Amino acid sequence: MNHQISTSRIQQDMELFEQFTSTPGQGITRLPFTVDVRGCVTKLTERMKSAGLAVYEDAAGNLVGRKAGVYPDAPALIIGSHIDSVKSGGNFDGMAGIIVGLEVVRMLRDAGITLNHPIEVMATHDEEGMRFGTGFFGTKAMMGEVDEEYLHRYKDADGVSIYDAMICYGLDPHRIKEAARDYEREIAAFFEVHIEQGPVLENTNTQLGLVDCIVGMQRYMITVTGRPDHAGTTPMDMRVDAMDCASQVIAQVSKLAVEASSDSTVATVGFAKVEPCAMNIVPQEVTFSLDVRSKKQQDIDDIVAKVREELTRICGEKGATFTVDEKLNTAPAHLDEKLLKQLYQSCEKLGFSHRRMCSGAGHDALQTAPKIDTVMVFVPSKEGRSHCPVEWTEYSDLANAAMVLADTLITNYSKGGQ
Ligand code: GLV
Ligand code: MN
Ligand code: MN
Repeated sequence: MNHQISTSRIQQDMELFEQFTSTPGQGITRLPFTVDVRGCVTKLTERMKSAGLAVYEDAAGNLVGRKAGVYPDAPALIIGSHIDSVKSGGNFDGMAGIIVGLEVVRMLRDAGITLNHPIEVMATHDEEGMRFGTGFFGTKAMMGEVDEEYLHRYKDADGVSIYDAMICYGLDPHRIKEAARDYEREIAAFFEVHIEQGPVLENTNTQLGLVDCIVGMQRYMITVTGRPDHAGTTPMDMRVDAMDCASQVIAQVSKLAVEASSDSTVATVGFAKVEPCAMNIVPQEVTFSLDVRSKKQQDIDDIVAKVREELTRICGEKGATFTVDEKLNTAPAHLDEKLLKQLYQSCEKLGFSHRRMCSGAGHDALQTAPKIDTVMVFVPSKEGRSHCPVEWTEYSDLANAAMVLADTLITNYSKGGQ
C-alpha cells in the first residue's frame, strides 16, 4: 500500500470522543438517547463529512457515513460498531471500531481508491443494553426486528420507555420500521473491529484476533415479591422475605455456569435492587438481572430452565411470588468463512500474527451474522480489562486492524485488486 493508515489520526479521534461522557474522570458513561450520545453523533458527523462521506441518521439513531462505489447499485460494505457505552466503561469499547472504519475510508480516499461497492461507516445505537436492559437496538432495527410494540415494552430504571426516550432524543418512534434495511439487496458484508475485552491476545503475544463465533445470550429481569414487615418483631417462620428467596436463587447461578458442559458458558447477576431497602424492614421486593451466555445453546437453555425451577420451588416454599421478564434472547453465531479467509490472507501478507477465536462478549455482529456475511477483528486489550475506566488498547494496535481491513477491501473489492 502506498498510502498509509495513520496511527496519529486514530489517536486524535479516539481522544476527541472521550469528552462525550456524563461521568468525566470516572470513565465513559454514554447511555442511549442522551445528550452525551447526541454530542458524540454531532461531532462524528463532522468527522465523517470531512472524510468525504455523505452522512445520515436512520430512524433508530444509527449514524451512517456512506461513500459511493464504482458500481453505485452494488450492495454496501459496512464497517460498524457502537457509539453507546456501559456505566463508567472505557473509551475503546465500540468507539474503536467506528474510528478504525473512518481511518480506512480516509486511507482509501488519500490513495485515490474507489471500491467496487459503496462503503459505509456505521455508528450503531444502544448496543450495550445498559439503559433498557435489552441490547443491540440499532442493529436489530436495521435488521427489521424492532416495531413500535418493542419501543413501548422496554423501560429504563425511571420508567421511561424507549418510545419516549426516542422522542426526547429527537427521533420519531412511529418511523422505526424505516430503519430496516433491505439487507439482501443493499448489504454485501458487515465488518466489525473491536477490542478483545479479554486477556488472550495479550497473553499469547498475538496482534489480531479473527473472530469466528460469538456466544449466544439471554437476559432477564427477575422480580421476587414478598411482604414488608417489621424486621424485629416478625418471627422467622411468619415472614415472606423477598431477599431470602432471591438470594437462594442467586447463590446457584455461578455454580450452574461452572457445572455446564461448555467452558464458554457464563452466567452473571450484575444488577440487584431491594425495596424498600431499609435495615429494619423485611424486604418486600428484590429485582435482579440474569445474563447467561455460551457457545452452546443447550447450556443457556438449561441454566435458564433451572433458575425458573428454583424460583418456583423456593418462592413456593416461602409464599413469595415472582415474575421473569425476558429482555434479550439471541442464539450463538458463526461468522463468515469467506471473509475470515480474506482477513487471514491480509494478515499473512502484512506479517501480523493472528489467531482465530470466539467472542464471549456480545457485539452488533451477533445480530447481523445470521442474515448478512459478517466478520470481526479483535485487537488486544491491556490486561484483558474492559467495561471499566482502565480499559486500554494501544493506538498502534488499532492501526494494525485498520491496515488489515483496508488490505482486505482493496484486494477483494476493488478493480485494482484480484
Ligand atoms: C456488551 O459488551 C456485552 O457483551 O454485554
Ligand atoms: Mn461493551
Ligand atoms: Mn462493545
